[in-house]
Amino acid sequence: MRIAITGSGLFTPEASISNEDLVESFNAYVANHNQEHAEAIAAGTVAALSPSSAEFILKASGIRARHVVDRDGILDPARMRPQIRTRSNDEPSLMVEMGLTAARQALEAAGRTGAEVDCVLIACSNMQRAYPAMAVELQQQLGAGGFAYDINVACASAAFGVQAAAEAVAQGNARCALVVSPEICSGHLNFRDRDSHFIFGDAATAVLVEPLEQARGSRVDEVLGTRLKTQFSNNIRNNFGFLNRAEATPRSEADRLFVQEGRKVFKEVVPLVSELIGEHLAALSLAPDAVRRFWLHQANLGMNQLIAKRVLGREPSIEEAPVILDRYANTSSAGSVIAYHLHNTDLVAGDVGVLCAFGAGYSAGSVVLRRQ
Ligand code: COA
Repeated sequence: MRIAITGSGLFTPEASISNEDLVESFNAYVANHNQEHAEAIAAGTVAALSPSSAEFILKASGIRARHVVDRDGILDPARMRPQIRTRSNDEPSLMVEMGLTAARQALEAAGRTGAEVDCVLIACSNMQRAYPAMAVELQQQLGAGGFAYDINVACASAAFGVQAAAEAVAQGNARCALVVSPEICSGHLNFRDRDSHFIFGDAATAVLVEPLEQARGSRVDEVLGTRLKTQFSNNIRNNFGFLNRAEATPRSEADRLFVQEGRKVFKEVVPLVSELIGEHLAALSLAPDAVRRFWLHQANLGMNQLIAKRVLGREPSIEEAPVILDRYANTSSAGSVIAYHLHNTDLVAGDVGVLCAFGAGYSAGSVVLRRQ
């Protein structure tokens, strides 16, 4: 059976934080810390903190700003994390609400209603709660039938979700499968960590996967193939988990948030991902030059350019590998789908594109598409 992505959607939180605003807040925190601990710093028992810089952030990452669910809580130097209203169990949860907006857009683009959906997958890095699965809540909100479950493969989750959805449709277990990726990365980002405080942003995406023969939308991309790869690494890690409360030695807050060895990640993930894409294209008898567009996970501009360069054997143009991280930052599993959603309207019948997501695990997934 031929399978297609028949619609996509994007929810972008209204609030945005520029590098300059973020650095001002971080540097106020640093000044307060150094003043408060001046004696201990002078005695050499406490290390002085160094300020951050907007120029460094732009140069090292390509990020200029990020959208977030709450700006004030993050920018308050005494808080430095989003402030989110505690909701009752009778209200929709925040991540499902974000996913619902993206899902409705994807359904509208595909000419479908929620009632026609019979498989809902929420594929993302962090879950709202342990259970019930967010996907089951979203299934109810959409009035969908069938089954729903959550998938967590960090930043690569959306690609894993598309493969799971395509397989469910191909096997006849679903006729209309939604893959939704809500990300509140600001919830697990340590805004007090100079090395990483600028990396993430918040967003939600959705794509609809159906048999090609039943596609109704005006932009239909056949899934020519999917390919996944995982390889264990501690270089991106988050030790938050349900056993934290049972651990003999309580972990610090910093140890229950995102940490990474950025340089090592860069060095190890670039070859892993470029080989994955190269091998996937070869298996489909497609030459890299036959690819009109690469919708890559958006973590670091230099990394994306290098991956595309390795696949193509030359520098990619901005049209070939579009960039959205300048204003969204790294939105984890949503990143490659945001790039796809915002940069696919100019494709014509026959054009081939590669959606590729990668991140912690390590994990990586490639989805090769052809415009119908
Ligand atoms: N402001 C100013 N200077 C900073 C800084 C900040 N916020 N953070 C670090 N620096 C300094 C460091 O102290 C270091 O100084 P030194 O050379 O005097 O020691 C210098 O800048 C370089 O730091 P480094 O951490 O090596 O930067 P980098 O060039 O590797 O860029 C990342 C950091 C995180 C942007 C980059 O490594 C990256 O994006 N890697 C890939 C990460 C990724 O994709 N992760 C996936 C997550 S899903």
